[in-house]
Amino acid sequence: MNPLIELKNITYQAHNKNILSIPDFQIQDGDFLGIMGPNGAGKSTLLKVMALLDSPNRGEILYRGQEIANGIPSLDLRRKFSVALQQSLLLEGTVYQNIAIGLKLRKVPKSVIKEKVNVWMEQFQISHLAKKNAHFLSGGEAQRVNLARAMIVEPEILFLDEPFSALDFPTKIKLMDDFKAIINSAGTTTVFVSHDLMEINYLTNHLAIIVNGEVKQYGPTQRVLESPNSATSPFLNKWKKFYPMSFKQEKPLSLMR
Ligand SMILES: Nc1ncnc2c1ncn2[C@@H]1O[C@H](COP(=O)(O)OP(=O)(O)O)[C@@H](O)[C@H]1O
Ligand SMILES: [Mg+2]
Repeated sequence: MNPLIELKNITYQAHNKNILSIPDFQIQDGDFLGIMGPNGAGKSTLLKVMALLDSPNRGEILYRGQEIANGIPSLDLRRKFSVALQQSLLLEGTVYQNIAIGLKLRKVPKSVIKEKVNVWMEQFQISHLAKKNAHFLSGGEAQRVNLARAMIVEPEILFLDEPFSALDFPTKIKLMDDFKAIINSAGTTTVFVSHDLMEINYLTNHLAIIVNGEVKQYGPTQRVLESPNSATSPFLNKWKKFYPMSFKQEKPLSLMR
């Protein structure tokens, strides 16, 4: 089976400096893929390239085995992807309007929009906020709206860049728990960028460690965390000091995917 997305011989440069060098990298259908690495390693750039929001200087990107011509995705293809970032970038208007926007742009009938917004507000436990101005939400509430907005269009791939990084610990673990259950039941292929080992360990099935713009290790999350290689251990061992337990994951739901 073809991977959902494949990168081949990708180089991304800025100011004559190599930001990314990726000979071959794949996103598998149905995976919850983590991308982790130090600050400035190139995680966000890699996410933007994979989400077709930014073009590399060189290389090919394939969607289900088909090269994307000139690296420019069709509107149809672009609409298969959702992206959510650390800052939730909510628009002027209510929570309801913010969540409805993707379907509105797709010219979905109003009655269907209403039904779906209600479903997704319920999933993210924000129904009580429907009429609230989106600019007056707490960080956790805003991120719930952001994720509901990304999920309502039923994307084939969900790209997330540090969505939980700005949240305080209790807010973060509650949202992560709810989010994990939602993704497991939707079965959405997810690419999750984070610098946080706790988040990565809890959520992801596969893990790519990126250092200096290169994927230095890739594999099942637990295996990578248990056996860092010479390129990834300087980064991972810093975390291990604070997580003395073994990285056993409890994954009853995702194993069924
Ligand atoms: N458009 C750009 N112009 C100049 N430098 C950039 C640009 N985009 C990214 N960089 C640099 O590329 C490196 C990787 O950035 P980024 O992908 O944001 O890393 P991460 O998300 O892992 O922290 C950093 O050194 C950053 O300063
Ligand atoms: Mg980043």
